[in-house]
Formats: sequence, C-alpha cells, structure tokens
Amino acid sequence: MVRMEPRGLTSQEETENDDGDFRLRRRHPLTFSMPPLFLLLLLSSIHASAADDICIVGSGISGSSTAFFLTNYTAPISAQLRVFERRDRVGGRLATVSVAGDTFEAGGSVIHPRNLHVRRFADLLGLAARDDGEGDDDWLGIWDGARFVFSTLPPPPPGSSWLRRRLHALLNSLLLLRRYGLSLFRMDSFAQEMLKKFLLYYNDFESRPVFDNVEDMLKWSGLYGLTQRTLEEELIDAGLNSQTISELVTVITRINYGQSVSISGLAGAVSLAGSESGLWAIKGGNWQLAAGLLKTANATLHLQEGIDSISDAGDYYVLKSNKGHEYNCTVTVVATPLDEVNITFTPPVSIPPRKMQHTHATFVRGLLNPKFFGLSSVSDIPELIGTMELPDIPFSSISVLKKRNQHDMTYKVFSRAKLDDSLLAQIFSTREETIRIDWPAYPHYHAPEDFAPIILDGKHLYYVNSFESAASAMETGAVAAENVARLIISRLPLGLRASPLLSSEKRCRWSS
Ligand SMILES: Cc1cc2nc3c(=O)[nH]c(=O)nc-3n(C[C@H](O)[C@H](O)[C@H](O)COP(=O)(O)OP(=O)(O)OC[C@H]3O[C@@H](n4cnc5c(N)ncnc54)[C@H](O)[C@@H]3O)c2cc1C
Ligand SMILES: *[C@@H]1O[C@H](CO)[C@@H](O)[C@H](O)[C@H]1NC(C)=O
Ligand SMILES: *[C@@H]1O[C@H](CO)[C@@H](O)[C@H](O)[C@H]1NC(C)=O
Ligand SMILES: *[C@@H]1O[C@H](CO)[C@@H](O)[C@H](O)[C@H]1NC(C)=O
Ligand SMILES: *[C@@H]1O[C@H](CO)[C@@H](O)[C@H](O)[C@H]1NC(C)=O
Repeated sequence: MVRMEPRGLTSQEETENDDGDFRLRRRHPLTFSMPPLFLLLLLSSIHASAADDICIVGSGISGSSTAFFLTNYTAPISAQLRVFERRDRVGGRLATVSVAGDTFEAGGSVIHPRNLHVRRFADLLGLAARDDGEGDDDWLGIWDGARFVFSTLPPPPPGSSWLRRRLHALLNSLLLLRRYGLSLFRMDSFAQEMLKKFLLYYNDFESRPVFDNVEDMLKWSGLYGLTQRTLEEELIDAGLNSQTISELVTVITRINYGQSVSISGLAGAVSLAGSESGLWAIKGGNWQLAAGLLKTANATLHLQEGIDSISDAGDYYVLKSNKGHEYNCTVTVVATPLDEVNITFTPPVSIPPRKMQHTHATFVRGLLNPKFFGLSSVSDIPELIGTMELPDIPFSSISVLKKRNQHDMTYKVFSRAKLDDSLLAQIFSTREETIRIDWPAYPHYHAPEDFAPIILDGKHLYYVNSFESAASAMETGAVAAENVARLIISRLPLGLRASPLLSSEKRCRWSS
C-alpha cells in the first residue's frame, strides 16, 4: 500500500512535494448508506486512464460534500481529488465574522434538526453545537415601517423557573393564535409536508434512484410542483389568511431569502421550516463542516486558485487557473453558482438565466435607537425585528446577536441594499463598530422555476448548484452533492466493460 500523509487543508504549495500519485484509498466499505458491493469491486478493479483527476471547483458545503461522498461511496479508485478555491479559505457562504472578540455566523447560520446529512457530518467530524442558541430569538416584533403591528412577549429574565418559562411560551402561543388563528397550523403542516417528502432523499440506494437532472429529482420526491407556483399561491390554496401571509410568512421569507412571498413554493416551504424550533449551529462556525469534509476526503486543496476556464479536450477537461496552471481532469464538478462567476467554457454550456439575490449583512456593535421605532427605551425593542414587504422599509430584519449590557450590544441587520452611514445613524443611537458584507446570497426565486442541467455537457462536466434553484441551504447543497457523487460513480469513464451488474445502479428517467 502506498503511504499517504493526511492531506486535508494544505495549499498547493505545500502539496507539491508529494509524488502526485495520490490515490483515494479506503480499507473498508462503509456504512454511510452502503454502496452495493459490486460497485466497490468494480471500481477497485478499474485501471487509471492518463488523466484521472476528479476536479471540483468551489470549497463550500456543496464542493466539500461532493468530495466527501465520492470517497465515502467508493473503494480505492485511482484518481486524485482536487478542490479549487479562489479565496484564501474554505467554506464559501459559510463564514464567520468577528465583532469585539466574539464570533458570529456571517452567512449560512442555522441548521434544521432534520437536516440529516449536516447532522451526520457534524457527528463524524466531532463538531459540537454552539451553546448560546443563535436563532433562538423568541421575542419577535413585526415592523411595518411605522409601528410594530405584532410582538411576542419579552423573554423572562435569565434564570427564571421552568414554570415561568413554560408560561411565557404558552402566552406567546396564545398571542400568535389570537392574531393568526388556524393559519398557524396550516402554515406548519405546509412545511411539515415538504419536510416529509424531502426525507425521501435519505432513503437507501435500493429505494432511491440516481438523478441526472433536477426536474426528475424533484418529481421523484413529489416536490417539483412546489417549484412551479409561488409561495403565496400555495399558501392561499392551503387556506392561510392574507394577514398571516403578509405578516408572519413575509417576515420569514425576508429573513431567510431576503425576498417576498412571490418566491417559489419550495424555497418558501424551506424558509418556513427554517423558522421552526430546535435550530442549531456549529460551535466555532459552520465553515468547519467544509474544512472537515475536505480533510476526511483527503482532497488536495488549491486555495487562492480560481478556475478561469474549463475546456473539453476529448477524454478529459483542461482547467486553467488564475495562477497560470493547467490541470487535466477526467471529471469536473462545478460547485458554485455560475451566475456571478466568470468561468469560460469551451465549448460553451447553456444554462437558463438566473439572478442571485444579494443580501447585505451589516454587523453593528452599538445600540439601536428606540426613537426610530417610536419607542422610549431600548429595552422595549424586540430582539428579532422582522419586516413586512413595504417599499419604505430599508432593511429585512435586525436581530440581537449578543447583549453585553444594556448599552452595549451586537446586532445583525439584513438588507437588500447597502445601508449607508446616514441611514445607520438614524437606526442606531451609538455605533462603535460596523462590518458590512455583501453576499451574492441565494438565487432570486420566482415561479415557475427552471433548472440548469446537472450534467452540463452530456459528458463529465457536472453542476451541483443547479439544485439551488429549488432551495438554497447547507442541507440542499449536501443532498445535491450526494446525488452528483453517485451519478459520477455510476458514469465513471473508466473503460468499463459492459457489466450486467452496473445496470442496477440505473439513472432515473422520470416520465410524467
Ligand atoms: C446571509 C446568508 C444567510 C444564510 N442562511 C442560511 C441558514 O441559516 N441555513 C442554511 O442552511 N443556509 C443558509 N444560507 C445558504 C447557504 O449558506 C448556502 O446555500 C450554502 O452555503 C451554499 O454552499 P455552496 O457550496 O453551494 O456554495 P458556496 O458556499 O458559495 O461555495 C462556492 C465556492 O466556490 C468558490 N468559487 C467560485 N468561483 C470559483 C472559481 N472560478 N474557482 C475557484 N473557486 C471558485 C467560492 O469562492 C466559494 O467558496 C444563507 C446564505 C447567506 C448568504
Ligand atoms: C486519508 O489519508 C489517511 C492518511 O494516509 C488514511 O488513513 C485514510 O484512510 C485516508 N482516507 C480516505 C478517505 O482515503
Ligand atoms: C463514511 O461515512 C460514514 C458515516 O458518516 C462514516 O462512519 C465513515 O467513517 C465514512 N468513511 C470515510 C472514509 O469517510
Ligand atoms: C494534459 O494532457 C496532455 C495530453 O496528454 C499533455 O500533453 C499535457 O502535458 C497534460 N497536462 C498536464 C498538466 O498534465
Ligand atoms: C470575465 O472574463 C472576461 C474574459 O477573461 C473579461 O473580459 C471580463 O471582464 C470578465 N468579467 C468579469 C465580470 O469579471
């Protein structure tokens, strides 16, 4: 056996000493969701072709999960796994920001309890949940630009009795029920219905096909229909009243996707699930998921090396990087949205136009100005301010991230446009530190949604983020990546003899 050094998060410079003959290598077939044994045997008997690299562009959760599943689902194959990342760190839209010595999530922040891949990644990588409950803001106020049209109760003081906390939760439920009535339950069952279907993506291989396009993948689970109508249309049909849609639901879609209830129904249902209880995050930052997965997969990481072009050279692709290097790759996986990056494909690939919704995340250490909200004291301002879809409201949400004391807090503000200093001076009475991040955050959702192909060229150029047009989240990235990994394994161009065994790993051709 070839000796291998752990390769995790080393840069290209650090790995160039190695002999370059790195193999994906594993001793035991594994239990993540066991690939059929024949596949393992088949793959291990395949001879390497001249260019046998598998190259992944992007080190976010999609790229790192693809690397992880490729190694987790295969026996030793003769291929080098390369991951290219144009920035100087891994994680992409999972990143932390540091304000006055505290670390907060700047991008993707909360994980739903039923996000099973992410849950298992965290367990496998030994990553703990953070204990300060980000995403736990239960003092919600809904702002219409002039006043809070609805608020829940301020939280009971820390250290309150169990009874006091139960009572508080009960009163909040009653307040919500009084304003929104049965629509609350209808909203919840709409999200639950989606989650139930989404859980099918964790079925074992025998009962879950490999998909070569997003439409089939969504039709198989019964979720496709939700992408063809707006959330608003879906919720009206589900019997929600208009007040619930324009207040509570709108607040949730604006927080999660920076958009209104005219987003597609599936993205909407994912937002609604993202407002349930039990949400959690990784202690020290969710980006560690990506770092850990890349390490576990022994991927060779090329940090600060952006891919400028991907050219079909017959049996392989030539990837050219902004460092002037060239790589021959048998398989190439694009694991970043292509909408705002500048990769030249030869021959060109055709994908439907998609716009990314920008979310400006502004972190402020200071104190909100109660007068801006028509209140007399800061302590009257809800800890999570959600907003309605009205033209004059300059932000989507404001949440308290940390309370140092009554005069020193850290807030996160989401907005669609940059918040300039004069606006911040109105919203905040004091401001000691301000950090602004402009994210190309997630697709701008609409209905009916159309999808880019997963296989961009009919050959071995794959696109994980075509699934992001269904819904953008850490878990959807992992689910899309898992399917792409299986698809690659099922189609590996390794001079396979026609094997009767391979036919049981059929790709799904959904006929509707
Ligand atoms: C403000 C915000 C809040 C969010 N909240 C949540 C949340 O609470 N829960 C949740 O689950 N999700 C949330 N999301 C969504 C979630 O963060 C994303 O869906 C997910 O992180 C996307 O991962 P990805 O790997 O697909 O893409 P990315 O993370 O964008 O990774 C793509 C990577 O590719 C790199 N790259 C691009 N072009 C090139 C190139 N040419 N060469 C080399 N590298 C390249 C990029 O630098 C990047 O690192 C949020 C997102 C934002 C922005
Ligand atoms: C990664 O490399 C380490 C160290 O050589 C090895 O023990 C491990 O099995 C490898 N893992 C995979 C997935 O190839
Ligand atoms: C594959 O995944 C399973 C389940 O998460 C894990 O137990 C196993 O260690 C993984 N193997 C490798 C080599 O990553
Ligand atoms: C890629 O393959 C071509 C043709 O086999 C070869 O000439 C070239 O040197 C290879 N490039 C790299 C970087 O391996
Ligand atoms: C994209 O790349 C082309 C060719 O390299 C260049 O002319 C163009 O300015 C780039 N556009 C952006 C937005 O970077």
